[in-house]
Amino acid sequence: MIRVLIVLLLTSFGLYTGAVMAGEWHVGASLVCSQCHAEHGSAGGEPIPGGPYSTLLLKGSINELCLSCHDGSDPTAPDVLAPVSMYAQAVPSESAAGHFLSAGTMNLGGHTLGITSAVPLNSAGRSLALDCGNCHDYHGNTNYRNLRYDPTGGSDSIDIAAGVDVFWNAAPSNPPTPAGSAAAYARVNIGYKSGWVQWCGSCHDQIARNSPSILPAHFNLHPSEVSIGQGSAHASVNHWLAGSGEGFTGSPFTGEGISRVPFLQPQATDFATSQQVQSTNMVFCGSCHAAHGTTNTMNLRWPYVDGGANYLSGCQQCHHK
Ligand code: HEC
Ligand code: HEC
Ligand code: HEC
Ligand code: HEC
Ligand code: HEC
Ligand code: HEC
Repeated sequence: MIRVLIVLLLTSFGLYTGAVMAGEWHVGASLVCSQCHAEHGSAGGEPIPGGPYSTLLLKGSINELCLSCHDGSDPTAPDVLAPVSMYAQAVPSESAAGHFLSAGTMNLGGHTLGITSAVPLNSAGRSLALDCGNCHDYHGNTNYRNLRYDPTGGSDSIDIAAGVDVFWNAAPSNPPTPAGSAAAYARVNIGYKSGWVQWCGSCHDQIARNSPSILPAHFNLHPSEVSIGQGSAHASVNHWLAGSGEGFTGSPFTGEGISRVPFLQPQATDFATSQQVQSTNMVFCGSCHAAHGTTNTMNLRWPYVDGGANYLSGCQQCHHK
């Protein structure tokens, strides 16, 4: 009976069906049940302190479970909990998604985990206590980073596939290694092409994609998926192409300047082409916000809300004034 159940479960996770799985970890053959579930309310023969938990999870909540490896204690698991040191070798020394504060702590610099909050810019007035499972499919799927096809739990089917919408230079290592993970998840290892506005916009649906310079653009926050050289007077194409001076690292103003912000490259076909700086590059959510969080208010990549010498750096890269 137990064996039949296990076969049924494995089948439903695509292990025996030969389904194509593009996520790189916690998917298909790398979805190791015992990393997250206990078999009989015990782990390695030892009783679980405080357990057994619902669906026989090893921890009392999804956040706690995932963060038990992703908090920096496992050098092969990408660290998503501040402070993060595993990307120290890269510039900027951060991952693509950035970092959280621990679950249950209010986070001004990123998505707050585990505290019920209103979803800003959501037309349905939804509230939720965010956990990793709202955004990532813990049993894996075909999306980049196992991102949910439908983060709102409705009926969307949003594909963000590696090799199609996102590109990397170094693939995650299998089996995982500390050096392999530090290289694979670093921000500099990722190039973006498409899909993000729709994905972030599933929860934040009041942010319109917005054509440039057409009302109500000014009233729906900054336009996204608009190219820097699309012809309107607002963006500074030559400054963006040059990649030096105000806003960029090495700026003539003391204390000012950050690495070039991420952008969409609609013509990308591989990692190298995703890095090409040209006038067709587009601004998107990830140009200004990191998905998990940063040390600046509102997950921003520079301290626009907090102030200081760098407060306009990102804006200046595209709008040299
Ligand atoms: C990376 C962690 C992780 C791994 C690995 C994992 N699971 Fe899960 N599983 C979860 C989480 C999280 C839940 C949801 C728990 C909840 O909602 O309380 C879950 C829920 C379940 C459920 C309940 C139904 C559902 O889908 O919500 C079953 C059954 C299950 N897992 C079986 C498995 C099997 C079989 C494997 C190995 C092939 C596996 N899991 C591997 C994290 C994992
Ligand atoms: C037992 C430790 C462990 C647990 C528990 C764990 N992870 Fe992981 N996770 C890893 C490791 C190690 C990697 C890196 C694999 C690699 O790159 O080779 C990883 C990679 C990932 C990735 C990147 C996958 C990709 O395709 O690029 C995501 C997303 C992720 N984990 C989310 C989660 C979530 C969500 C949970 C909780 C449901 C969770 N992890 C629980 C160890 C763990
Ligand atoms: C599953 C739904 C969901 C998805 C998907 C989602 N968010 Fe959020 N977001 C929330 C919730 C809930 C809050 C409010 C709680 C908080 O402040 O963290 C929030 C808050 C924010 C905030 C304000 C942060 C702050 O400190 O108050 C920003 C900025 C943001 N999200 C950007 C994004 C971006 C960019 C993406 C895509 C990478 C995204 N969100 C995807 C649910 C979501
Ligand atoms: C609001 C949505 C959201 C939530 C909540 C969320 N993630 Fe992510 N995560 C993302 C997105 C989007 C990416 C890809 C960002 C990119 O590549 O630009 C990502 C990337 C990752 C990565 C790759 C490493 C990195 O930093 O880029 C890991 C590992 C990961 N998430 C684990 C987790 C874990 C563990 C949790 C819960 C503690 C969690 N995520 C909660 C949206 C989310
Ligand atoms: C990655 C490039 C990029 C960054 C970073 C950026 N912008 Fe923009 N911005 C654009 C593009 C492209 C447009 C649309 C083209 C246009 O309207 O000429 C635009 C348009 C605008 C507009 C006009 C909106 C409209 O509806 O016409 C304003 C105002 C603006 N940006 C302000 C800012 C501010 C303030 C910042 C910093 C917080 C910023 N931008 C950061 C690229 C960027
Ligand atoms: C050019 C930079 C830029 C881009 C592009 C951008 N944002 Fe923002 N966003 C900001 C700034 C700056 C703030 C904080 C100040 C403000 O509210 O105007 C903000 C605030 C937010 C908030 C919090 C609003 C609130 O009222 O709490 C959310 C949610 C958000 N952005 C999501 C997104 C999503 C989703 C996208 C992509 C569709 C996106 N942003 C694109 C710069 C940007």
